[in-house]
Amino acid sequence: MRDYILLYINGKRHQITGEQIFQPLSDFLRYEKGLTGTKVVCAEGDCGACTALLGRVRQGALQYEIFNTCIKYVYQLDGQHVVTVEGLKENGQLHPVQQTMIDYFGSQCGYCTPGFVVAMAGLFEKTQAPTEQDVRDGLTGNLCRCTGYTPIIDAALAVDGTSVKTMSERFPEESMLEDLQAHATRSIAIEYDETITGTAVTHRYFNPCTVSEATQLKQQHPNAFLIAGGTDLSVQMNKGRISPQTVISLSNLPGLGKLEIQDGYLNIGAKVSWTQLEDFCREALPEFHKILAVFASGQIKNVGTMAGNIANGSPIADSLPFLYVTNAEIELAGTTGTRWVNIHDFYHGYKVNEMQSDELITQIRLPLPTAEQTLKLYKVSKRKDLDISTFTAGFFMEREGDAIKDIRIAYGGVGPVVLRLPRTESFLKDNALNFENAQKASKMARTEITPISDVRASDDYRLQLSENILLKFYYEVTQ
Ligand SMILES: Cc1cc2nc3c(=O)[nH]c(=O)nc-3n(C[C@H](O)[C@H](O)[C@H](O)COP(=O)(O)OP(=O)(O)OC[C@H]3O[C@@H](n4cnc5c(N)ncnc54)[C@H](O)[C@@H]3O)c2cc1C
Ligand code: FES
Ligand code: FES
Repeated sequence: MRDYILLYINGKRHQITGEQIFQPLSDFLRYEKGLTGTKVVCAEGDCGACTALLGRVRQGALQYEIFNTCIKYVYQLDGQHVVTVEGLKENGQLHPVQQTMIDYFGSQCGYCTPGFVVAMAGLFEKTQAPTEQDVRDGLTGNLCRCTGYTPIIDAALAVDGTSVKTMSERFPEESMLEDLQAHATRSIAIEYDETITGTAVTHRYFNPCTVSEATQLKQQHPNAFLIAGGTDLSVQMNKGRISPQTVISLSNLPGLGKLEIQDGYLNIGAKVSWTQLEDFCREALPEFHKILAVFASGQIKNVGTMAGNIANGSPIADSLPFLYVTNAEIELAGTTGTRWVNIHDFYHGYKVNEMQSDELITQIRLPLPTAEQTLKLYKVSKRKDLDISTFTAGFFMEREGDAIKDIRIAYGGVGPVVLRLPRTESFLKDNALNFENAQKASKMARTEITPISDVRASDDYRLQLSENILLKFYYEVTQ
């Protein structure tokens, strides 16, 4: 058992314990380590000013990807290597992306610049020659309010990729890797006491090394928060909506990284990141890949998980219509063993789910659509990239000649949970797929949902969408 977390920052080893682990990494970097190149603007994962590179051990090597340090708490970083903007320079020489940002006038006030520079360096972890589309996708999570994006994109495209050292070349990894791997099999428990307005409060952090240890901890601490990528939880914490006293990190749990197709089923481990899933779905499931391509930013997708999306249970979570119409199942592990729960039985109401206090999600599985089956997914949001959905929809259809043999429809953002439309489905089933029936079905769809008006859209708009999306589906599958 350890009472510290092991974290490398810019190649330097740190053992951190006590109060220091219970703060966002951006604060730790700036206030404890004086690494003030990392800026904080939104503190909720939206602007990218706090971007750093995260080196994680994957398949026996360190793999580096960008992430937002403002929504990553220090206790989530055990066994990892963080490279900040200060770590990009080597022997007094600017990193090539820093140099082209100067050459192409990519910075004015400079507040966003460190984040852009790190995100650009992240592009060269994947390829030596990013295309303009790669650059645009790679910078989706970075906002600049004064320079304008053209000089920044030009700067990224002007970098001679052959002159860029990857992080593994920049920071020799042999001894670091050995150290990190040796620590990964030792569980961690850390606590510290604090007095808040005269009341003593104990903060606890656990990082178990087996699923069974995690479920036992969950049973002993039923109010503990499990934390995976933290992209939902940390935002809530930064906004002061929740302040968990006990957290259990899933970062060192082995065996939850499975991502494979077996016997026609796609199996997704609870620790698989959105980026890993997006890469996998490019070929295996292009329709879901289309949604993931506009889901959040690279910084979020590199750490966020589908299990977190499901457990968080937002009715506009982008994975849910897909999981509903494919009839996905969720594996829950508890102290007495594991069980599979169909997604349709998982939610009991708004953010209330089937998980018992000792349980956690270990994997998700779903049957892949066959060539005869059609899957269509839609996300409606005010902005195409990096925006929360206003309305989501999933359609799954199997045809026999001109008739619809089977159809499943799920809408999100129109009620407290994602809704299936049983009356519309049974009207369409065994009926001909033609415009008249699609129009009747679209009118029926709006009677099956109960949207509310909120900051993103009015109830009227969502009702209209429920009609229009069904017609869009009809046009797309028939033409
Ligand atoms: C800027 C920004 C953009 C975003 N864009 C989108 C978007 O486009 N679409 C979208 O759907 N979401 C979006 N999100 C929300 C979020 O990124 C996703 O919901 C993500 O999938 C959450 O996964 P996580 O691993 O980070 O979860 P965490 O924040 O770690 O956890 C979320 C919840 O799940 C629980 N949990 C996590 N893992 C498990 C497990 N294995 N078993 C049981 N419980 C678990 C936690 O206890 C917590 O209650 C965005 C968030 C941000 C900050
Ligand atoms: S400060 Fe805006 S994403 Fe972190
Ligand atoms: S240079 Fe000022 S915000 Fe980007």
